[in-house]
Amino acid sequence: MYETFSRVSITVAMGKCYPTVSEEYKKAVEKCKRKLRAFIADKNCAPLMLRLAWHSAGTWDVKTKTGGPFGTMRHKAELGHAANNGLDIAVRLLEPIKEQFPILSYADFYQLAGVVAVEITGGPEVPFHPGREDKPEPPLEGRLPDATKGTDHLRDVFVKHMGLSDKDIVALSGGHTLGRCHKERSGFEGPWTTNPLIFDNTYFTELLGGDKEGLLQLPSDKALLSDPVFRPLVEKYAEDEDAFFMDYAEAHMKLSELGFAEA
Ligand code: HEM
Repeated sequence: MYETFSRVSITVAMGKCYPTVSEEYKKAVEKCKRKLRAFIADKNCAPLMLRLAWHSAGTWDVKTKTGGPFGTMRHKAELGHAANNGLDIAVRLLEPIKEQFPILSYADFYQLAGVVAVEITGGPEVPFHPGREDKPEPPLEGRLPDATKGTDHLRDVFVKHMGLSDKDIVALSGGHTLGRCHKERSGFEGPWTTNPLIFDNTYFTELLGGDKEGLLQLPSDKALLSDPVFRPLVEKYAEDEDAFFMDYAEAHMKLSELGFAEA
């Protein structure tokens, strides 16, 4: 079963070379995944877990090869970055599960939590490859996107620094189908959709529908509508959830593997 899964994933990843982990490690990943499914469902904390995984990975800088999904979010220095307000809660919630799996790196563990968060809320299965190592140094502050800025900034962060594509920006923005903004964390308040614990394509339908009482659109979300490359993708994902799920799974996997398993 695992072998099949693993071969399919490698094809999708096109030429990526993953490290080999022991049978014991693979078993721990599967068992931990089950524990995470139950825990995240019980606590209704899928949105926070997805944000943790994304903010861990999204600091990757392709030029300096620093940052990225390498377990550094557990350090006070990184949790203290303004963009990470509230993620101390995620790290604290996850710690009792991590303690049950000392063999796993924090790097793999946080990314696994992100993949499980998407899966158990009804989203696509994002292929997961283990073997990330924990890095000692947190990245510098200031690499994650600023919600008050527009498309040039999004491309600067996602394309220039992280090495992702325009399509990845739009697909990944669909992660805001889950969760909400908290005034005390980001200064913004409210959810993007009417069902913030369900992973579907309503982020895109709501975005095209314009402002609505009780729902929120950040300036960085609205910016997707005014760009000639981004807007057609927003329209496509609003019309076709299967297309969104396919592109999202690929983009999420790329995000979770930034700086890992380079070809
Ligand atoms: C495109 C640039 C992005 C910007 C500017 C942005 C900004 C924000 C802001 C301001 C919040 C509110 C935090 C709070 O107050 O609790 C938030 C929450 C969230 N973001 Fe993003 N985000 C971006 C991309 C992403 C991506 C790529 C993902 C995942 C694939 C993601 C997943 C989430 C989730 C799940 C939440 C909700 C957390 C919760 O409910 O506690 N975001 N984002």
